[in-house]
Amino acid sequence: GELVQWNGEVVEVLSPVFVKGEDGILKRKLVGTIPHTSPKEAMEALDAAVAAYNNGQGEWPTMSVDERIKCMQKFVYLMIQQRDLVIKLLMWEIGKTNGDSTKEFDRTVEYINATIDALKDIDRESSRFQEAEGTIAQIRRAPLGVVLSMGPFNYPLNEIFTTLIPALIMGNTILFKLPKHGVLAHYPLLQAFKEAFPAGTVNTLYGKGSEIISPLMESGKVNVLAFIGSSKVANGLKKLHPKVNRLRAILSLDAKNAAIVTNNADLDVAVSECLLGSLSFNGQRCTALKLIFVQKDVADAFIKKLSDAVAALKPGLPWEKDVKITPLPEADKPGYLKTCLDDAIANGAKIINENGGLTNNSFVFPAVVYPVNDTMKLYHEEQFGPIIPVVPFDSLDEPIDYQINASHGMQVSIFSNDAQEVANLIDPFVNLVSRVNINCQSQRGPDVFPFTGRKDSAEGTLSVFDALRSFSIRSLVATKATDANKQ
Ligand code: G3H
Repeated sequence: GELVQWNGEVVEVLSPVFVKGEDGILKRKLVGTIPHTSPKEAMEALDAAVAAYNNGQGEWPTMSVDERIKCMQKFVYLMIQQRDLVIKLLMWEIGKTNGDSTKEFDRTVEYINATIDALKDIDRESSRFQEAEGTIAQIRRAPLGVVLSMGPFNYPLNEIFTTLIPALIMGNTILFKLPKHGVLAHYPLLQAFKEAFPAGTVNTLYGKGSEIISPLMESGKVNVLAFIGSSKVANGLKKLHPKVNRLRAILSLDAKNAAIVTNNADLDVAVSECLLGSLSFNGQRCTALKLIFVQKDVADAFIKKLSDAVAALKPGLPWEKDVKITPLPEADKPGYLKTCLDDAIANGAKIINENGGLTNNSFVFPAVVYPVNDTMKLYHEEQFGPIIPVVPFDSLDEPIDYQINASHGMQVSIFSNDAQEVANLIDPFVNLVSRVNINCQSQRGPDVFPFTGRKDSAEGTLSVFDALRSFSIRSLVATKATDANKQ
């Protein structure tokens, strides 16, 4: 709840962009430093959030919806003043292009404004009385307590805010753990949080997740875990909570979304959408297409068009014009991607496009890999990078079987111009994933649509409307429906 001058140990934030040092050697540019906070400081932040919530009696949870909206509008106003700096930090810290960094910032502002509008609707609904079986009731939405919000490096601002903002505006108090990369991008907003909300309402955690999160969960004082990351980590965190069943979890987790290109597809559409779906932000999106099934009659033509399109992509620095391929923030990623490519080649696949997989410091040029099969790492691992594994198939049962046997179920994209064939594919997939895309790539937006997944892909649903419900509980004020009470 306070801005604290940090005098302790710091951690360097290194850019994926390499620059020449004084010794003439290329190295990751130092963007800044962040506090290396300890479990003790994390617990102090938790205490601040617990005190600000004060069993639902704190200033923030008891504020009227109108007042909370005013605070949020003030925050948006202050946030917009920091637009240029946040966008610049996103480019330097996570290597996102100028266009995509700008989109991330603006989308977040739009998301907050849409959340405010949705809350007004919910509030209007809550102020009405309902009558049933001789009882009248006002059904309100009440907060849940302390929310711990954590998100990934690929949307360090936008994805954390898809849980933080709805949780906050519903009257909960917040602990938010900054992601591994994209930490400094939040720095310009800390003052805005402080100015817009009562002390202790929003508490920011630096430090290593592996050190500071366990004590928070073990305290049993976190009421809601809002986590975007791997199911393995999420399961581990839930288990640490002493009263595991009373912890509400809103989770967005594992994915490996498939595209299915049938013999009846418009190949130009399939190629341009698969390209976007596989390589936007270098394939570092949970909604990315990570396995492309192509029916055998069109496989050669599809591969040719796709590898030509990939070869035309321009690598460069995030702020350069028309750049599509940028450096990867995770230092160990190029090495890991190489092991995936080596494994595929050893098992009979080829890199189809020129320069595919070529690595230069933190750059990895995208690789179209064909034919991929289930003996390869690329078939099973999400890889979260710029590799496009293509799997040839005969019968439409094959991609359906893949999804039936997968441990995740986020999205699928079907490419076909045969309406009956599309209909035949929609039916099985609707019960296997949470979004079926027809002749278009997979993606989270528009943000008013539900975003969730099946199996290990999600728990709970996010969207502007769903998130407000996820971070609140319906609470009734009820009485007998007598004439006097109705008055
Ligand atoms: O990384 C997962 C994100 O939710 C992807 O969002 O589809 O809007 O890029 P997006």
